[in-house]
Amino acid sequence: MELNKILSTIIADNELHSRWLNTLSLMENTGARKISASEDPTTVTYIILKHAAEEHRHAFYLKKQLEKTGIGLCPTYATEYLLAPGYSKYYLNQLDIDVCRYLKAELNLNGKELRFAAYLLVTYAIEVRADELYPVYQDALDDAGSKVNVKSIILEEEGHLEEMINQLKQFSPDWELHAKQVVKFESLLFDKWVHALNKEINA
Ligand SMILES: [Fe+2]
Ligand SMILES: [Fe+2]
Repeated sequence: MELNKILSTIIADNELHSRWLNTLSLMENTGARKISASEDPTTVTYIILKHAAEEHRHAFYLKKQLEKTGIGLCPTYATEYLLAPGYSKYYLNQLDIDVCRYLKAELNLNGKELRFAAYLLVTYAIEVRADELYPVYQDALDDAGSKVNVKSIILEEEGHLEEMINQLKQFSPDWELHAKQVVKFESLLFDKWVHALNKEINA
């Protein structure tokens, strides 16, 4: 099933829609915490701090949008308040594992260097995905005449992709080769996630 069809089914049902927003919030929060965790306490830059702050804001903003689907829905990230909870948590953690394994094998990285390279590549792949997913979601929201709005997230995610490309260029002249491989890992995981979502909303 295509993503836009899944999304219109979700948006048409306030209960599903609240869990969807909560799930996106969880994923943004996981991403934000991963960025913060990978920060070097000394060499962390303006761009990295800005990025972490904006991802934390996305998690909060999506939680706030949730109010528009009904009062008191999905107060926490407990399993019953999420869509495809297993896969939604697995997606980012597994991507991190795949990328670290790849970087160790291909570039022989470890410690601080590995953490930083994994931050660059994992975040890059997620930004590519965010730039695709949020506009599809916003279109579905517009079609349904929903009050929920993610335009401010779309704007910031576009900036993030540009920032990641700039940082990757400084990291390695071969950055595109690595980025391509990481996008492949991400696509496999994303497909599994969409499949799980589809199964859940049609259960
Ligand atoms: Fe985000
Ligand atoms: Fe982002």
